[in-house]
Amino acid sequence: MNILFLMYPWDKIDPETDSTLRLIHECVSRNHTVAIATPHNLTMRDSVSSAFCQVFKKSDVVTANIVSFYKKAEFQKSQLPLAGFDTIIMRANPPLDPITLNFLDSVRDDVFIMNDIDGLRIANTKLYTASFDDPTNHFIPVTHVSKTTEYLVDVLKESKSDKMIMKPLDGYGGHGVILVEKSAHKSFQSLLEFYINSGKGGNYVILQEYVEGADAGDVRIMMLNGEPVGAMKRVPASNDVRSNIHAGGSVIKHVLTKNEKALCKHIGPKLVRDGLYFVGIDVINEKLIEVNVQSPGGIMRINKLNNVKLQKKVIDFVESVVNAKEALAQRKHEFRKAINDAHII
Ligand SMILES: Nc1ncnc2c1ncn2[C@@H]1O[C@H](COP(=O)(O)OP(=O)(O)O)[C@@H](O)[C@H]1O
Ligand SMILES: [Mg+2]
Repeated sequence: MNILFLMYPWDKIDPETDSTLRLIHECVSRNHTVAIATPHNLTMRDSVSSAFCQVFKKSDVVTANIVSFYKKAEFQKSQLPLAGFDTIIMRANPPLDPITLNFLDSVRDDVFIMNDIDGLRIANTKLYTASFDDPTNHFIPVTHVSKTTEYLVDVLKESKSDKMIMKPLDGYGGHGVILVEKSAHKSFQSLLEFYINSGKGGNYVILQEYVEGADAGDVRIMMLNGEPVGAMKRVPASNDVRSNIHAGGSVIKHVLTKNEKALCKHIGPKLVRDGLYFVGIDVINEKLIEVNVQSPGGIMRINKLNNVKLQKKVIDFVESVVNAKEALAQRKHEFRKAINDAHII
């Protein structure tokens, strides 16, 4: 297979922990032709979408040690047409650049893009998490989203609980996630104005039910083709409300509970329908907090905690999709040939 990873720059990778590197290593080990490029490397040549790529040089043996694989990797630089790849694996970090998706639009019928570009568009903000059908808030915490300060002030005032979570609609990595308490209502208006007005045109803000138990940690579940394939628990530092590893959280082993499995079953079909084949969901106390669709991380830590290699499952899945597409194209070719050979006059 010809595989392109559209991702952050190679030299920004931390080889000890990086999930994309584990996926790349798996593909190179399987002797696929593997190229990497950043969204900045996309270009159009004579109306053909292409990318300035770095292609891994092939070698007879690929070291099993991922850190030394990273250090020793050698590339050949080449401008390559996107439609020549069997799959493009999207691993760029948020925020999502709509122009990247425009480049990919023209090749979407030729290439299996994971995750699908429409899915990436739909799930680009935390509104997506609130869009799963759950009228009784069994799986999804009560969520309010607005740019209207007075409305959000009222929401906090009328809240049954004396604390809520406030966060930007399009944040990531725990940035701007704070706990707001009713007792601090005198500062709330000013805080909201700051959150809402700090961007051009104003930012949407989420005010969400505080899910009890968050201080004990959240669960990251990796979903592949609509099903859970691995999980871990992230515990926040004692001085923080956020469990994100980048915000100082640490990880421990986690086995999915019955309700967490039910949650995965509830959301899995929609994820697949939306072309979100490989995502990381954040779950607190069996409630869905976030669906991470761009470059979800956690592979290395889940591998280590459970002595597995998640990257194998992911690449098995990609291969199965590409092979099925290939078989379909082959059949079409044969049927076309049958008609041509029938010498219809
Ligand atoms: N409703 C909530 N209740 C309790 N804790 C929350 C809630 N929402 C977010 N958090 C905490 O903040 C962290 C980051 O929030 P999240 O919505 O996942 O945003 P980000 O995209 O920044 O990771 C979560 O992992 C969790 O620890
Ligand atoms: Mg998160």
